[in-house]
Amino acid sequence: MEKVVLAFSGGLDTSVCIKLLEEKYDMEVITACVDVGQPREEIERPEAVATDLGNYKHYTIDAREEFAQDYIFKAIKANALYEGYPLSTALARPLIATKIVELAQKEGATAIAHGCTGKGNDQFRFEAVIRSLSDCKVIAPIREMNLTRSEEMDYAQSCGIPLPSDKLYSIDENLWGRAIEGDILEDPMVEPPEDAFSWTRSSEDAPEEAQYLEIEFEKGVPVALNGEKMEPLALINKCNEIAGTHGIGRVDIIEDRIIGLKSREVYETPGAFLLIKAHHALEQTTLTRNELKFAQQVTETYSELIYNGMWHDPLREDLDQMIDHMQRRVTGTVHLKLHKGSMRVVGRKSPYSLYQQEAVSFEDKALDQREMTGMVKNYAMQAALYHKVYKE
Ligand code: ARG
Repeated sequence: MEKVVLAFSGGLDTSVCIKLLEEKYDMEVITACVDVGQPREEIERPEAVATDLGNYKHYTIDAREEFAQDYIFKAIKANALYEGYPLSTALARPLIATKIVELAQKEGATAIAHGCTGKGNDQFRFEAVIRSLSDCKVIAPIREMNLTRSEEMDYAQSCGIPLPSDKLYSIDENLWGRAIEGDILEDPMVEPPEDAFSWTRSSEDAPEEAQYLEIEFEKGVPVALNGEKMEPLALINKCNEIAGTHGIGRVDIIEDRIIGLKSREVYETPGAFLLIKAHHALEQTTLTRNELKFAQQVTETYSELIYNGMWHDPLREDLDQMIDHMQRRVTGTVHLKLHKGSMRVVGRKSPYSLYQQEAVSFEDKALDQREMTGMVKNYAMQAALYHKVYKE
């Protein structure tokens, strides 16, 4: 029998997939869950469900360090944001797919399966990676059989898969953020109720007292908080906790999906906003105007590549080279003040700072003001000519 590795969450969709892969595709199923910082119960559940459903061979793959170091840190260096969304789900998909491919190779599987429906973004992201890295067949049973939710429920019932208790929202959570969609949030006029959030306090409930935070960066990545050196994983978790407490990082947007559907998305990504804001402040201190302007275009393109599942497009690697080169000087310290949903950069310093306090000071004579006269005089030459030659 051919072997298939299924990316397994233990939820309804992927549980249905196990049975379909056996019954309709006649395959031996191995399940796997890749840990990118989901809540602990989401890591433990798949293994328990795989056992309950029929003692399937199951793997739990801890990829948290790799996610922080090789994915999230790249996103910070690029200030990656897509339509205001820090790409938490999108960024984890290529890593999950990569781990599944590695497992399929180790297990000698000829196919990889996922539980995506035909409406979302993840089908593109998973399959782009799987096809770039392996010759495995890709099977998406729910999509291939065009199943609706209620058809899935019926099928689940017929093969003894426990039906989910009425979950309100569809949630995807990892180290870099938490995405909440579905249920009442599908109405774009409905304000997300407090129960949709779990990482962030509302600004009303945030502490009355402001908190100052010092973030140290080396070559574009954060290395210490309040003077304490930290590993990437711990540092990101801590940033989520601190910024979340102060009500930072809630997003409510209409987002353009890959296939063109607009969807209403709610996110809480406190650490991502905190770190990107601080990182950008340091770039403004150390990079030239030309570099900053170009970096903006890079942010746009880089973010689109991530969102669209193009992690393995060579352009992403090309951009990484360019970004790393530019980030050599993005080293230094940023001070932020967090208070009731607001976050302000209140200080920055860097050994590579291009800010010269003496030069902008009103008291300084190093820059001879008289030398500017000619430059200023001809500065708007073309505008002045236009007004001379063209009269309405
Ligand atoms: N729209 C986001 C993306 O495609 C997040 C989707 C998260 N999924 C969820 N079930 N909430 O990256």
